[in-house]
Amino acid sequence: MTEVCRQRGLLNPPNERCRIGAIGYRNQEMRCARKCFPQLIVDHREQRGTEFSSDGRQDEFLHPLSVFSVPPWFRPKSHKTRCGGFIAELSVARNMTHVLETGFEQMDATNPNGSPKIRGYNIINGEISLSSDGATFESHNPALFADCLGEFPLSTKEDVHTALAAARAAFPAWAATPAPTRGQIIGNMGRLLMEYKDDIVRVETREIGKTLKESAGSVQEAIDTCHFFQSEGRRLYGQTVNSELPDKELFTYRRPLGVCGIINACNFPAAVPFWKMIPAIMCGNTCVWKSPQDAPLLSFMLTRIMHEAGLPDGVINLVHGKGSGAGQDLVDAVDLGMINKISFTGSTAVGKMIGEICGRNLVSVSLELGGKNPLVIMPSANMENAVEGAYWSAFGTAGQRCTSLGNLIIHEDIYDEFVERLMAKVESTTIGDSMVQENVLYGPMLSERYAKDFLRDVQMCETSGATKLWGEGMITEDNKPLNFLGNPSEGAYVWPHVYADVTEDMECFHEEIFGPAVTIVKAKDFDHALHLANASPYGLSSAIYTNDRLEAYRYKTGIKAGMTGINNSTTGAEAHLPFGGVKGSGNGTRESGIWVIEAYSYWHAVNDELSGKLQLAQMDVEEIELEEADADYSGLA
Ligand code: UN1
Repeated sequence: MTEVCRQRGLLNPPNERCRIGAIGYRNQEMRCARKCFPQLIVDHREQRGTEFSSDGRQDEFLHPLSVFSVPPWFRPKSHKTRCGGFIAELSVARNMTHVLETGFEQMDATNPNGSPKIRGYNIINGEISLSSDGATFESHNPALFADCLGEFPLSTKEDVHTALAAARAAFPAWAATPAPTRGQIIGNMGRLLMEYKDDIVRVETREIGKTLKESAGSVQEAIDTCHFFQSEGRRLYGQTVNSELPDKELFTYRRPLGVCGIINACNFPAAVPFWKMIPAIMCGNTCVWKSPQDAPLLSFMLTRIMHEAGLPDGVINLVHGKGSGAGQDLVDAVDLGMINKISFTGSTAVGKMIGEICGRNLVSVSLELGGKNPLVIMPSANMENAVEGAYWSAFGTAGQRCTSLGNLIIHEDIYDEFVERLMAKVESTTIGDSMVQENVLYGPMLSERYAKDFLRDVQMCETSGATKLWGEGMITEDNKPLNFLGNPSEGAYVWPHVYADVTEDMECFHEEIFGPAVTIVKAKDFDHALHLANASPYGLSSAIYTNDRLEAYRYKTGIKAGMTGINNSTTGAEAHLPFGGVKGSGNGTRESGIWVIEAYSYWHAVNDELSGKLQLAQMDVEEIELEEADADYSGLA
């Protein structure tokens, strides 16, 4: 490829990092060049050398040097423009690489586990690209900080807009593709995920620290979703509806919404984006997916696999970056009229902000937000089963599911026995990196950031006045639980935390603490327990352990939550049931199963008037009068 960028006749030899480049001696010129070619990546350096002055003197110089480079997606063949009194010229050969034409690019790395460091890309219109300003961020293994999984584009607003334009351009052809064909591509995705499952599972564990067993569950949930929606391609039913007028037919059709912005948290980095994007594309929409900042490699892999399955370019476009950066840019695009749907999984505070922006633009939004999921234990419960369920709900996934247990509500008659049994399990919890240790219940926090936030939030229990039964914050070499396996300073590990004597008036009763912490509340009787279960501002998941059928019935009818488990934990929703919450946990939309289709399509009602004349609904409808009858029905029996 050719790379020439001239400013006042200065030509710089191409540097190999980029497809470059020129030097700008002055800031003003550099700013000018940037203005003409906003796609330029500018790398500030210094250039040392010797030059001859006009009188023949030889001078040493140290110039500020700006090396300009262009990102690989930069399209124009030649640009010539006048700015600030000089002509800048840039000619770049097209250098777009399709994602399927390239393997994984390894970078120099000294990862202690010998795993590779990958150069990650955005995937826009099927082609790989860096961010428009060349900025990157790294993904690190939370179980082993020194292990760097790769470097990824820190996408700019321009990148997000490029991705949105690609999704917009791909929309008409994709929407016109027969739904069974769309389903076939989704089925291919499911088959490929099965084929690569073991590799995806290991990357998920390496990137977010979940145990291998749990990562396998998350990947399986993505596979189940593909298989469910493959066959939906052969349904996606509308209805034929009878008209009130003769020679007229009525129909309903599901229509796609358009371009969908997808933003998910990193805790289910395979399952949750598939919950969103698979039904979205099934309905004929196209997507821009902002990958979670802490799971970019897995997202990059999954998007590649989707293309391998036969997905046309531009139908799913991947941009990496921060929630406050590319994520916010995606949401702001709603105000610019560039997007028709946002689907978000994350915190209630961010969800409310997104909901406001979508609301004022009348743009559809799916919000799957936080939870303070209650679990009630009644005296009739099978104690062993209930302890097992409560323990798993609270500490499985290191408490980092939106369905994880928040308030454990125990009937006073069995309180002491239950807490004693639970604590025996908590105190012997096995924690460590499941890539190297056997049978750990949980691994590190999803990233260092999550550990920091957890340590801040768990303080709330102390300031609320709850009694700490267990938990000492961060796990370190000098401060580790009995069954911690490995070297805690290598990753972001935290203790399991249990707080008792929690009451309804405490802040920690109401607020979600994302991580391994449970708050225990004592209930006087069933009605009190149900009241407590409903008293937090959230309504995502909920559960009860009881062997009293009437209690179970009253709980299921009295609880205000999107999901309820009876004699089961608060987590573990299956991929074909509606998933979502009420109150502070969401806006009523659902993921999964047939119910999610409502969130990614609108109903189009069509009437076909075959009579050849104008027949007015409601007004030209034949009216049937009641007939007079001479009968007395009352005396018959
Ligand atoms: C999430 O935490 O955002 O029901 C999703 C569950 C999982 C999905 C959790 N199937 O716990």
